[in-house]
Amino acid sequence: MRIALLGGTGDVGEGLALRWAYHSDHDVVIGSRDPDDAHDAADRYERAVADHGRERKITGFENTMAADRAEVVVLCVPPYHVADTVESIEGSLDDGDVLVTPAAGMKRDDDGFHYHPPSAGSVTALVADAAPDGVPVVGAFHSLAAGRLADLDAELGVDTLVIGDDADAKSRVAGLAEDIDGLRALDAGGLANAPEVESLTPLLVNVARENDGLGDLGVSFR
Ligand SMILES: NC(=O)c1ccc[n+]([C@@H]2O[C@H](COP(=O)([O-])OP(=O)(O)OC[C@H]3O[C@@H](n4cnc5c(N)ncnc54)[C@H](OP(=O)(O)O)[C@@H]3O)[C@@H](O)[C@H]2O)c1
Repeated sequence: MRIALLGGTGDVGEGLALRWAYHSDHDVVIGSRDPDDAHDAADRYERAVADHGRERKITGFENTMAADRAEVVVLCVPPYHVADTVESIEGSLDDGDVLVTPAAGMKRDDDGFHYHPPSAGSVTALVADAAPDGVPVVGAFHSLAAGRLADLDAELGVDTLVIGDDADAKSRVAGLAEDIDGLRALDAGGLANAPEVESLTPLLVNVARENDGLGDLGVSFR
């Protein structure tokens, strides 16, 4: 499978790129608004994976070209830019491609982080509203800590909740998640459940901030 990580120059994009390149044979394509940044990040990730004993080719392109090359497109961009990003790559998406969103809307005050969904109801709903017909949207990877993903020496041992209305697309993304060692995908229902799934992220960030040694916190359902 070819997976494009748009905004793959950032934290969660780096973590997912390294993990898929290291643990699976999927083709990893880094997207950025700036093609030079995409190339640089791809080179850096290739070296990091090679340092861990795997020679993999990771490519980097401007977001539209990255999306054009992939069947699964992960939106690793800030929550309030997901819709712009989907609109900018619309012409690169084919029927049957899958859009994946890991984003959670949050705001911060003196007490910590709070769930702050957009008026659409959730960031996932924003993506679904912007997605072209024939391109299903799946939510996943919200509760993963980017730092832990990017540390290839760290065992994950965590779960990710997967939501979506298209059963095939959801199972494809769950399969991709489970191709990463130590990551279990759990079905959390349809896109209507996005607020519950997204709101886990600020909770995790607050717990990580308030407790020493839990910086790269994840969840595991038992
Ligand atoms: N960090 C985590 O631990 C984590 C975990 C799970 C989920 N998430 C979610 O994953 C998403 C990305 O998080 P992150 O921490 O990786 O973010 P980030 O590092 O702050 O940004 C990721 C990338 O987004 C692109 N970007 C920045 N501003 C943009 C804009 N106005 N329009 C389009 N692209 C823009 C940039 O790439 P270019 O400049 O190269 O285009 C940047 O490298 C967020 O929605 C977050 O909620 C994060």
